[in-house]
Amino acid sequence: MGFLFRPETAGEGKRREQGMKRRAFLKKGVTQALYAAAGLILAWPVFSFVTYRKNRKREIIFTPGEQAAGVIFKEGVFLVKEKGTRHALSARCTHLGCTLRYDPVSRRFRCPCHGSVFDLGGGRISGPARKNLKELPVKKKTGGERVVTLTT
Ligand code: FES
Repeated sequence: MGFLFRPETAGEGKRREQGMKRRAFLKKGVTQALYAAAGLILAWPVFSFVTYRKNRKREIIFTPGEQAAGVIFKEGVFLVKEKGTRHALSARCTHLGCTLRYDPVSRRFRCPCHGSVFDLGGGRISGPARKNLKELPVKKKTGGERVVTLTT
């Protein structure tokens, strides 16, 4: 019966105090790790949304029927038939990114926003844009379709 009420020695008290400090430290560390994990889980959708748009590739398919016209616009791309060959240009103005319109009378691309003008080869003629239009790769498929790869 006497051992139940034995007074604590100085060494035992110190060890008990150290054990409590260790437990508090571990509890704090585990809590912080859980907060960090929760932060990563919550931040992941935002991170993937921000990085999703980079280097996104789209393929725009022009059927043989569509290719009969001299200049065809489809999904942000111009497919241009010139001197028996076809090349593709981005329809995005190199000034501030407005979508260009094709003027069949002058056979030029015109920007409705600030008036930049480009020739059929994509070369800048006038306006605030300083760069030529972006040339895009075109692949011809066996069925006669042409596939243009647009990277945004
Ligand atoms: S966006 Fe085309 S000229 Fe400004």
